[in-house]
Amino acid sequence: MTRHFLRDDDLSPAEQSAILDLAVTLKADRYQARPLEGPQTVAVIFDKSSTRTRVSFAVGIADLGGVPLIIATASSQLGGKETPSDTARVLERQVAAIVWRTYAQVGLEQMAEGALVPVVNALSDDFHPCQLLADLLTIREQKGDLKGLTVAFVGDGRCNMAQSYLLAGATAGMHVRIGAPTEFAPDAAVVADAERIASSTGGSALVVTDAVEAVSGADIVVTDTWVSMGKEDEKAHRVATFGSYKVDQALMAHADDEAIFLHCLPADRGYEVEADVIDGPRSVIWDEAENRLHAQKALLTWLLSH
Ligand code: CP
Ligand code: NVA
Repeated sequence: MTRHFLRDDDLSPAEQSAILDLAVTLKADRYQARPLEGPQTVAVIFDKSSTRTRVSFAVGIADLGGVPLIIATASSQLGGKETPSDTARVLERQVAAIVWRTYAQVGLEQMAEGALVPVVNALSDDFHPCQLLADLLTIREQKGDLKGLTVAFVGDGRCNMAQSYLLAGATAGMHVRIGAPTEFAPDAAVVADAERIASSTGGSALVVTDAVEAVSGADIVVTDTWVSMGKEDEKAHRVATFGSYKVDQALMAHADDEAIFLHCLPADRGYEVEADVIDGPRSVIWDEAENRLHAQKALLTWLLSH
């Protein structure tokens, strides 16, 4: 059966760990894996803007011996005249995998249903699982074993990054805390899924409204833009609502003395994070951005062999 990666919990704890191990290997020896030699093509489709995802998939597919076919949705039939399902029927006969950045998670599910090649979520409104593989690789590099670490995500708890931290962190056996206003709490079903996973991995999932409570003693502090793609018309309300969730030196002082800071980028300095944190010594954002390449190469290599 074809394996897809639509949400972080599509991987078991052992599978997630194996992909991170492979990412470490590929980071040390960039051209070791050549599963796309031929070359085979991978379609990478964007409904939304991107810098990191576009570049890391294009470079990564080339590193793996393949050819990236980057498609801007607006210039294709997808989303207009053609359904995700019909698009999959056309692409699966010509490409080795389909990578798609889109809005609704249900579109990815329709694309993947019955697809003969792996479908990968390159960000949806609900999840950003490829980013989480890169984040977990970065945290491993800084902290060693992921199991038992406490990660605090503060800000928009309903955004793709917060929800992916819940699922991927629980899968890794981490203690995931979300600090978010009630209005922007994560989807209750996602929290329940994270709690269920955590009960078997030794991790935990906690949602609180107080940013200080979320960050207290944390090993890793994470935030993301307050205005995710597609939410631009809510900007004024969001900026007014998230003010007390800004990551500044005062908030970081509540974290562990050795705490690191992550942000998937792009960042709005002065809004969700102050420049002296994101550009300061605890920040690992450039390693995090580079690790998209290594983590996604490992993911594609793994998916193509399962
Ligand atoms: N972090 C991330 O996905 O960045 P892009 O939107 O630039 O791809
Ligand atoms: N939450 C952000 C992530 C960007 C990579 C967004 O969806 O816009």
